Amino acid sequence: MRGLVLSGGKGSRLRPLTYTGAKQLVPIANRPILFYAIENLVEAGVREIAIVVSPETGDQVRAAAGDGSGFGASITYVDQPEPRGIADGIRLARGAMGDGPFVTFLGDNFLTDGIVSYVRAFGASGADAGVLLKQVEDAREFGVAAFEGERLARVVEKPQDPPTDLAVIGIYLFTPRVFDAIAAIKPSARGELEITDTIQWLIDAGADVRADIVAGEWIDTGKHDDLLAANRLILERLPHDVSAGTIDDASKTHGRIVLQRGAEIINSVISGPSIIGEGTRGVNSYVGPFTSIGPGCRIADSEIAGSVVMEQTVIEGLGHRIDHSLIGRNVDLRASDRKPSGYQVVLGDYSKLRVP
Ligand code: G1P
Repeated sequence: MRGLVLSGGKGSRLRPLTYTGAKQLVPIANRPILFYAIENLVEAGVREIAIVVSPETGDQVRAAAGDGSGFGASITYVDQPEPRGIADGIRLARGAMGDGPFVTFLGDNFLTDGIVSYVRAFGASGADAGVLLKQVEDAREFGVAAFEGERLARVVEKPQDPPTDLAVIGIYLFTPRVFDAIAAIKPSARGELEITDTIQWLIDAGADVRADIVAGEWIDTGKHDDLLAANRLILERLPHDVSAGTIDDASKTHGRIVLQRGAEIINSVISGPSIIGEGTRGVNSYVGPFTSIGPGCRIADSEIAGSVVMEQTVIEGLGHRIDHSLIGRNVDLRASDRKPSGYQVVLGDYSKLRVP
């Protein structure tokens, strides 16, 4: 079975980070979200993978995932010139998917327990398509499934009044019959070819569409809180390994910590689970649990917990702990003793700042 990962889209809910990078490349536990999707596919025996990319971030995605050899896979790329929806991305990848079944994985979706059993069950079932479902608190944010008896009868995109609490998650199993559906549907009010309309078309055409409820956790990492939640889930699973870095005698660590190559901890307290990136220095600081600090950062005379910090960022001398935050690349956050005192900020469009 082949695999298709969608890595286009505008990422508007993750602005300003997505002005300069693909949302699928935002790191959790210091690796792009996209990599976990690719690994889930490879683990399920899917090694021929195409990634659909946008013109804005395609080069970054290509540079990050490469030819797939790092994952034991072969990866090719398909350009999606405009963000016209998930089904449009699938349509464009037709040539790359061959004549057999394939798994489509939205590159910002994150699963803790992978897809092995669903891919296997779909292969054995002879069904025309398969969706994966997960119970959610607020189904209005997702595609939602409705049943008639055991049979999947309807999928509705972001309904005001959801028929069930079962979200259709961003991992779909298809046979080439899906291309007939995509050719037949019309763009929605938001101008996109919707995946839910595609699946509904298949159901209405009498196709056999399977639905399985996934075990484990599922997160659609499109928003700040969800990204931090995925970061927590991955950090909880990382084995303790500080062998690649150094911790001086004045420092203390609690719980599971990963120090990547050349990371240095000096006169600091690090609470796990946390990961400190390559070449990053923590000096006179506290790094609290559930925190990922990217490579090449400096955290000095500061406290941070429950956060993701991307590469080459400096945090120095802050009087308050940073908590539940998502901080991009090359960010410079420092105390200043300039008078008169006050916040001095350079914040890009759609930035968020919450101060005590
Ligand atoms: C998309 C789909 C939606 C699905 C969701 C899963 O929504 O349209 O049906 O439930 O992915 O992540 P989007 O996140 O693009 O708004």
